[in-house]
Amino acid sequence: MRLTLKSGSIKNAPESYVRIIFTEKNKGTNRFINKGKEETLEIGAGKRAEMNRRKFMILCRSVIQTAKVNKVKKIAVQFDTFKKFYNPQLVAENFEMANFDFNVFKTEPEEGWDDIEEVLLYGTSSPEIEKSVKKGQEIGRAVNACRTLANTPGGDITPTTLAKAAKDAVKGLPVKVTTLGKKEMEKLGMGAILGVAKGSTEAPTFTIMEYKGDKGAPVVLAGKGVTFDSGGLNLKPSNSIYEMHMDMSGASAVIHAVALSARLKLKRHVIGLIPSVENMPGNNAYRPGDILKSLSGKTIEVLDTDAEGRLILADTLTYAKRFKPAVVIDVATLTGASLVALGLHASAVLTRDDALAEKIAQAGEKSGDYVWRLPLWDEYEDRVKGEFADIKNVPGGPTSRYGGAIDGGMFLWQFAKELDCPWAHLDIAPRMTSAPGDELAKGAAGAPVRLLIHFIEHYAV
Ligand code: BES
Ligand code: MN
Ligand code: ZN
Repeated sequence: MRLTLKSGSIKNAPESYVRIIFTEKNKGTNRFINKGKEETLEIGAGKRAEMNRRKFMILCRSVIQTAKVNKVKKIAVQFDTFKKFYNPQLVAENFEMANFDFNVFKTEPEEGWDDIEEVLLYGTSSPEIEKSVKKGQEIGRAVNACRTLANTPGGDITPTTLAKAAKDAVKGLPVKVTTLGKKEMEKLGMGAILGVAKGSTEAPTFTIMEYKGDKGAPVVLAGKGVTFDSGGLNLKPSNSIYEMHMDMSGASAVIHAVALSARLKLKRHVIGLIPSVENMPGNNAYRPGDILKSLSGKTIEVLDTDAEGRLILADTLTYAKRFKPAVVIDVATLTGASLVALGLHASAVLTRDDALAEKIAQAGEKSGDYVWRLPLWDEYEDRVKGEFADIKNVPGGPTSRYGGAIDGGMFLWQFAKELDCPWAHLDIAPRMTSAPGDELAKGAAGAPVRLLIHFIEHYAV
């Protein structure tokens, strides 16, 4: 999508562009009102007085979606009447996100895809505004790249090709990418990752991405990279298994957040860690009752092979320690329970650090990747204490299904507590796919790339 800033009024738009205008009436609808030669598409945006940042983001997306369904290729639009909510960077981000479809596996129709090709953005123009539009487009494109990767079917991506996707994402950028193979992981003693990987014919990988935008202590991001989560021997039922090719959404977000940090030349040291496995019930698969020795030395009793994300992240959190991080954030489609708790519109954030929780909430609110906090109080800790090993991966027993998102966080805390820095866990299962009302294509939502970038930019190390 070509997005060009134009100073002045939309009234000056060339005839070949459809003018998009807004009305307070007929909220949520749209219609063509053609006067003379100028084609005009009117969108019911609701009352100006009720506008806010959240609604403004959705409105931007509905501009693109409306143009798309009407098969319009070139539009002119002006947001001046929204006054303080008009933010050129947000417009650019959300235009790019709304203009995305996952078409990789589709045959192109004769008339071509229905994406928007040209946008003229009328209003005040200046070099600074120009810059923020460019930045918004970069952010939107990174979100979309994350969505393309996350949407890739399980049959088309393996831990090995996910590692390659990390390399490809940073081509031409100053990011160092190293991938550890199974042998190296064995040498290190990453027993938790190796345990989960056993059921698959695909070998696990562990990828380290490093962007050194300054010399300070790094922001370390860890992303769950389960390329397909069948549940393992605790096989998922049919209706729960379908979307589990997207169980590497955390990895996709981390990969593209590191790449974007470099592309935007952020002055931060950023490290991405991507543990990747396929969770399968093969004849060599790990079993319920197995005890894994994690990289930390702590032993883990596996009560449920479907609670695999926390296992691979356990070794990753231990590995993070060697970078002497300023802060560690892990990102994972960790639990269905987080969806039960929060519905479809916010990821869960779990941390013992109130200041960090506040910063992440801020980054969420500003960026549009909304989060909501769940507790990690001591009261919950007994539930992950092991019977026959140090820790167990789920509580087991009749109370196991209560507060599952917290159990996931509490399990990770057993490893994160060894870090000498603040840590937070983002359970992005609620935002793995777009929700009704998001004005986004079906499939991966690309969360929380925008939050992570906002966080990295504003976090004072
Ligand atoms: N990848 C799933 C969680 C998930 C579910 C993500 C739905 C997105 C949508 C995770 O590995 C898992 O299977 N979690 C279990 C945990 C349980 C065994 C304690 C779950 O949520 O059922
Ligand atoms: Mn699972
Ligand atoms: Zn999983």
